[in-house]
Amino acid sequence: MHYTINFPAGQTDYYLNSSYSQLLQVAPIAHSIIIIDENINRFYGHLFTEYRVLIIESGEEVKTWETIRLLAEKLVQFEAHKTSVLIGIGGGVICDITGFLASIYMRGISFAFVPTTLLAMVDASVGGKNGVNVGFSKNMLGTINQPKFILFDTAFLETLPEQEWSNGFAEIIKYACIGNPHLFEQLAHGTPASFQTKPKSLTLLIDTCVQQKNNIVLADEQEKNLRKTLNFGHTAGHAFETLYHLPHGQAVALGMVVALIASEQTLQLEKDVRQKLLLLLQQYDLPYQLKIDVAKVMQTLKHDKKRNNELVDFILLQSIGEAVIVPLAFDAITAALQAFEDESKS
Ligand SMILES: NC(=O)c1ccc[n+]([C@@H]2O[C@H](COP(=O)([O-])OP(=O)(O)OC[C@H]3O[C@@H](n4cnc5c(N)ncnc54)[C@H](O)[C@@H]3O)[C@@H](O)[C@H]2O)c1
Repeated sequence: MHYTINFPAGQTDYYLNSSYSQLLQVAPIAHSIIIIDENINRFYGHLFTEYRVLIIESGEEVKTWETIRLLAEKLVQFEAHKTSVLIGIGGGVICDITGFLASIYMRGISFAFVPTTLLAMVDASVGGKNGVNVGFSKNMLGTINQPKFILFDTAFLETLPEQEWSNGFAEIIKYACIGNPHLFEQLAHGTPASFQTKPKSLTLLIDTCVQQKNNIVLADEQEKNLRKTLNFGHTAGHAFETLYHLPHGQAVALGMVVALIASEQTLQLEKDVRQKLLLLLQQYDLPYQLKIDVAKVMQTLKHDKKRNNELVDFILLQSIGEAVIVPLAFDAITAALQAFEDESKS
């Protein structure tokens, strides 16, 4: 299925339920430069031999300015110019690096994605927000520019480790919580295997998430209000990710639990919503408890880019499917983290 979306920051062609082989048609060899990590090279490097390819190490640790600098030097060596297209083939880390690098190289060249993790298919490749970390602060340098195209081929997921599937489900559960109660029910009646073994269900699931994110991005591309709801679970989550070296999805899962505790404390959300979320997290092999040092988490969280003076924008729930943006004072965040820590001990 192919459709085009016109965002204020650019036009994106979506090739959903597609095949990698289509890349040759949409990405001319002469103009394209592919960026992959070592794992994608190991599994799929043989597919890209006709293209110029840049290979980086894998993992969140490489999502830094230093990697951007080294890749920019390679682009200069390759004589990449205004009509070149950078194509990131990989997970969220590759998408972020490719989108950010392309957005600043020669003041902006085109880029495109072939996402190869579930998380990148449902989230990181979509919406045009790309960035790199600065020390402990996640995505501190970033840009908003739309990719030229995104090509989805679920065949790449055949080599995806089990834990990476769970990480992807964390973002899918996020979509359900912030705006899709029907999806929440569907997930509750399923398991990772029920999607992994049924290509049609998996494709539908990916399409649902892509559509939900695109609707939000179309309404608020620059993240002035509605788009912030996509950060549900990400404020505490980013702090956990950096401090405890957790994969992004696991950190988001834990962050969603903190957000629900804060929703109970601030908006009197009924406790059974959290019970439902905990069951879902367990069902998709995601963590819901973590021993934390509240003071250290607060320290990290104060460097979050969502901070506004003494307040941090938190995404809370009024019910499953209904998210609200609430600026929380440090005391209120500390109280939610403390309750999370107390319950993780018990
Ligand atoms: N820009 C956005 O809108 C956005 C949204 C969500 C997440 N993110 C970012 O995405 C990153 C997380 O993405 P991720 O979970 O995809 O992590 P990742 O990119 O690190 O990939 C996870 C691991 O899977 C490997 N891998 C990728 N595809 C594979 C495949 N098909 N087979 C086998 N191994 C494969 C990678 O080499 C890596 O080791 C974080 O940095 C997060 O901040 C960005």
